[in-house]
Amino acid sequence: MARIITGLKPTGEITLGNYIGAIKQMIEYQDKYDSFIFVADLHALTIYQDPILLRKRIKSFIAMYIACGIDPNKNTIYIQSENPYIPAISYLLECHTNFGDAQRMIQFKEKSRQNANFSVGLLTYPILMASDILYCDANFVPVGIDQKQHVELARNIAIKFNNRYDSTFTVPDVLIKENGTKIKDLKDPTKKMSKSEENPQGVISLFDDLGDIENKIKKATTDSDNKVFFDEENKPGISNLMNILSVIDNISIKDIEIMFQDKGYKEFKEYVASKVCEHIKEIQKKYKEIINSDTLDAILDKGRDLSIALAKDKYQKMCTKIGTIR
Ligand code: TYM
Repeated sequence: MARIITGLKPTGEITLGNYIGAIKQMIEYQDKYDSFIFVADLHALTIYQDPILLRKRIKSFIAMYIACGIDPNKNTIYIQSENPYIPAISYLLECHTNFGDAQRMIQFKEKSRQNANFSVGLLTYPILMASDILYCDANFVPVGIDQKQHVELARNIAIKFNNRYDSTFTVPDVLIKENGTKIKDLKDPTKKMSKSEENPQGVISLFDDLGDIENKIKKATTDSDNKVFFDEENKPGISNLMNILSVIDNISIKDIEIMFQDKGYKEFKEYVASKVCEHIKEIQKKYKEIINSDTLDAILDKGRDLSIALAKDKYQKMCTKIGTIR
């Protein structure tokens, strides 16, 4: 059975963008693939994290994955930092990655521009991500479009290593959904909805109060055209809400256009708000049951043990090929 893997970094609350771009895809694939999902806590450390908040968030991410519908019986669920072989493999991969290739990553360029005091971890971050993907020979990586370039780097590193030492890694492919590749900020629909965005009005978190979610959608930035049809270039706000509705309600963009052809933005936004709230209400209900249950530790122990066994094996194979094992 082919394997898929994805991870989310706990730098803020899980957003509707994360849910649509990564988690929902994983749920759709979990019957078809051997599925791995983890909390990418090491990835969060490229900027300072409050230790108490980080610890709390790691656990809440795991509970949220399950509340969203990630089935612990069908997925290997773990915390990245509990597997010491992942950073060890990452270092070996760093030595097989050109500095220029790491420097070319769009996220690195953007984030290093925003903060001149960036850490070395910001540069090596995509190589750690390659380690996450390659250690377990994942075939596919479901992500949002912002992570596509990082998965391509993982591919290139795998190919380079395989060519130098003969076949060591499965070469992974990215899996991206048509409508949910990039959910935009509700206030500024030209940019991505992001956990670390400072204005919370543009971002829907899965933990948000339902009344707040309703208001955020009703106040989402749109144009003055008052006609509901899909045109990402000229109507980014409306097209974004259409993408959200399409994924949340499992309805095609065409059907949304037909449904609202004689209606204006007010009705459309009210409908989107009601569907999103209905969906998140269920998730929040399940989250409350899970976060207080004592099953999480057993799930995480099992995930950690399998992940370590696979990574240890891969690390030793790499060391043998590289020549560091006596
Ligand atoms: P992160 O935590 O930024 O985002 C987690 C996932 O959510 C997707 N995503 C979105 N999708 C659609 N619209 C949006 N507005 C949106 N915002 C985020 C991201 O594309 C991602 O799939 N480096 C990764 C975490 C990671 C990882 C990995 C992923 C570490 N190792 C290995 C896959 C495989 C990250 O920072 O994602």
